[in-house]
Amino acid sequence: MAKVVVTGKIPSGALARLRAEHDVLAWEESTPISREELLKRVVGADAIVSLLTEKVDDELLVAAGDQLRSVSNVAVGYNNIDVPACKARSVLVTNTPGVLTEATADIALSLILMVTRRLAEGERVIRASQPWQWGMFYMLGSSIQGRQLGIVGMGQIGVAVARRARAFGMTIAYTKRTPLDAATHKELDAKHVELDELLATSDVVSLHCPYSPETHHFINAAQLAKMKSSAYLINTARGPVVDEAALADALKHNGIAGAGLDVFEKEPIVHEGLLGLDNAVLIPHLGSATVETRAAMADLAATNALAILGGKAAPNLVG
Ligand code: DGY
Repeated sequence: MAKVVVTGKIPSGALARLRAEHDVLAWEESTPISREELLKRVVGADAIVSLLTEKVDDELLVAAGDQLRSVSNVAVGYNNIDVPACKARSVLVTNTPGVLTEATADIALSLILMVTRRLAEGERVIRASQPWQWGMFYMLGSSIQGRQLGIVGMGQIGVAVARRARAFGMTIAYTKRTPLDAATHKELDAKHVELDELLATSDVVSLHCPYSPETHHFINAAQLAKMKSSAYLINTARGPVVDEAALADALKHNGIAGAGLDVFEKEPIVHEGLLGLDNAVLIPHLGSATVETRAAMADLAATNALAILGGKAAPNLVG
């Protein structure tokens, strides 16, 4: 039996699968584990199943010891894991692609509708018991039909967002190192463009690129200045891809029309400049937050960990 450390609360089905084969030490509180406690628990672990709230870095790998074979993240993004440090110690890293594609795309589309139609702002008016009345010019938003959605990073989630946006009558432009396969390109009737063109011509820009040192503040003041003043920015990728101070400034001074954000630079802290802005829709990292999706993510992470511990190929190796 191997020692498996699970760094946070995960759905019971996945936990039971791990427990059926191994000695599992799982953090079962709803609040994240403290760093100190985590460093104690990982000592002697053969496998770690990690949540994105826990940093897996050299310090943690040293604390775990040389027997550690794998780190299985319960997320598709794995910027909480120092992959080169894992590689240097021959620790395999896995993630959970695919199973959260549709849920995350739903949230991106929801944010597009919320911000362009001012839904959160309208709800705040009612909840604050402020006076309101139907009026020809009352709280008008922007239509998305016939408008261009620019997708930065056209991976699985980007394609799923594009499909939804097509159903709402939007046209699609995208950036991607290599163009989409011919069938998807045709299905979406999409334009493959450079980032500058995408920023300058899109009515909604949706971010779907992974976070890495190269994409830190990828959308900054200079990039925001390239966008139309009537355009909206959506981020369901990772917070630090956007310079939040620059975004707050652009939103405040009508550099762009609005933003819908599911992720933040320093979660759970949200940049103060964004909090008072009616044209910013702010939701607490809910991209994959459905019962079904979280169960599937944990299940896939368990499959990856069990495969590696059983000496088999893991389906979702990264790095
Ligand atoms: C992921 O899997 O990277 C998501 O952000 C989790 O919600």
